[in-house]
Amino acid sequence: MDSHQLAVVPLTGAMGAEIHGVDLARLDDKTFSAAHQVLLDYGVIFFRNQNITPMQQMAFAKRWGNVHLHPHMPCLADHPGIIEIIKKEDDTTVFGANWHTDQMFTPTPARYTLLYAKQVPPVGGDTLFANLYMAYDTLSEGMKNLIADLHTISIYDKKKKRPAAMKPTAPEVDAQPAEHPLVRQHPETGRKALYLCHIGITRQIAGMTEEESKPLLTYLFNHATKPEFTCRFRWAVGSMAIWDNRRALHYPVNDYYGYRRVMHRITIEGERTF
Ligand code: SIN
Repeated sequence: MDSHQLAVVPLTGAMGAEIHGVDLARLDDKTFSAAHQVLLDYGVIFFRNQNITPMQQMAFAKRWGNVHLHPHMPCLADHPGIIEIIKKEDDTTVFGANWHTDQMFTPTPARYTLLYAKQVPPVGGDTLFANLYMAYDTLSEGMKNLIADLHTISIYDKKKKRPAAMKPTAPEVDAQPAEHPLVRQHPETGRKALYLCHIGITRQIAGMTEEESKPLLTYLFNHATKPEFTCRFRWAVGSMAIWDNRRALHYPVNDYYGYRRVMHRITIEGERTF
């Protein structure tokens, strides 16, 4: 089966597609490789009405690469690769509460993330995604030339607020800054993406002070997260998303105080960025 034989329904003009009629617990190799191509084309793909166990989610995840074991996030007891993202009714913050791409504060940020909805609020708790290819492509030639060879410094923020259930399970070591190209070439498609997170993670440009870097990073971040480059997914129990962190940002919307949301997340190990 090639990607044209999958039922692919794009979410917006910018990115994201739902794939219908697929059971992730019984995925043959041809359907998997077609879904992989849709992910490369759309940046994030969604499957609805899945009914899978943690073991089945793990088996599906392993088809995308090596599963990352998080050193200090709470995981399912029998499945150390599955982080259980819980926001309780009285939590006022959400996990990952700003535009980011997973593990950018490490030298080998996550390649893909798989997120499976176990419990969702009646309304709210959507996740937004932004297309970093579009962010790069729509810059002026002058800006592309200016940033072509720049690198950024990203640092993990130990002090950030977290939902009560998402406290680290082990003491966090002091994070080393991670350096990445500001313009990242995607290793599979060859396309260029504007590669950065919000300023709390992507703090500065290598060789510049934070003060010097901030105006340029702020401009580029605001540009990358324009509504025109985004899609928004409304979750239901049984929805599965897979996104490509090398060319997409995501943002969990914190608009469901009073309700509980539980997600099972697996990240796939990534490669060095240059
Ligand atoms: C995440 O940032 O990995 C979680 C996204 C979400 O909960 O929607």
